[in-house]
Amino acid sequence: MDFDSTVEKQMQANQVNWDARTPVHVASRFYGLDGSRPADSWFGPFEWKDLGELRDRDVVHLQCHLGTETIAFARRGARTTGVDFSGESITHARRIAQREDVSIDYVRCNVYDAVNVLGGQRFDVIYTGKGAICYLPDLSRWASVVTGLLRKGGLVYLVEFHPVLQSLSPKPALGEGPELLLRHDYLGGRGAIERSGTSTYTDGPELAEATRAYEWTHGLGEVITALAEAGMRIDRLRETELLPWPRWEHMQQDESGWWRLPPSEPRIPLLYALRAYKP
Ligand SMILES: C[S@@+](CC[C@H](N)C(=O)[O-])C[C@H]1O[C@@H](n2cnc3c(N)ncnc32)[C@H](O)[C@@H]1O
Repeated sequence: MDFDSTVEKQMQANQVNWDARTPVHVASRFYGLDGSRPADSWFGPFEWKDLGELRDRDVVHLQCHLGTETIAFARRGARTTGVDFSGESITHARRIAQREDVSIDYVRCNVYDAVNVLGGQRFDVIYTGKGAICYLPDLSRWASVVTGLLRKGGLVYLVEFHPVLQSLSPKPALGEGPELLLRHDYLGGRGAIERSGTSTYTDGPELAEATRAYEWTHGLGEVITALAEAGMRIDRLRETELLPWPRWEHMQQDESGWWRLPPSEPRIPLLYALRAYKP
């Protein structure tokens, strides 16, 4: 990895940030690692269909955090690898996998170094997303990591929060729920967004000290173009109004266990799922 020194420092700050937040996430009800939230519940109803048969396939989960989703691939019979640059996350992910009696090879490294660190290993499936690519400064370089890790015919499945979701912010309103206003960029290109604070997106205590994190906005066009320019063949892009957790208080849980806005709200995409093959 050789980014300019500002971006290198921003990614190092992100690593410190994720290490600090990991113990809070491990103890949170949000992730439900005490067994209250099974791994499968993190997957949308369409995901297993898109991923196809995983038994005896080589699957790598990039930016796997605690391995809450990674475990589901191993349980489906895949030879599974999880990659994350947070040492705290990898330590807990290994402990959780051992407790759950599943075999997963967890590797600590920056996504941008994964081709080198995994030393020539090639995979049938790359899974990533749900809060992953917003931490990546450069999608063209990410797409070349994707092609570097895949065998010919292998697929990447990216399931990510939709830039429309990221651009909305609630304003308290009378009635059924908050009014969602367009308040943030949909398109990238303004550089890193700095966030600083002690609270994290799960329940649980505040951090003792504020950490800094950097995020990058990536519109759908940027994602698709990065993969296409790297030679990937995109065959599916789903946009869905479903989310694995209630982002706003007036969201309603449906029969799949995922959450959507009430019928009175406009139907807007909150998550997307993109599948692309290496020819
Ligand atoms: C919100 S989690 C996404 C994983 C999963 N969907 C989840 O919700 O647990 C984001 C993960 O990305 C990791 N991460 C961020 N930037 C990274 C990078 N450049 N290389 C490797 N991991 C990175 C963080 O350490 C964190 O564990």
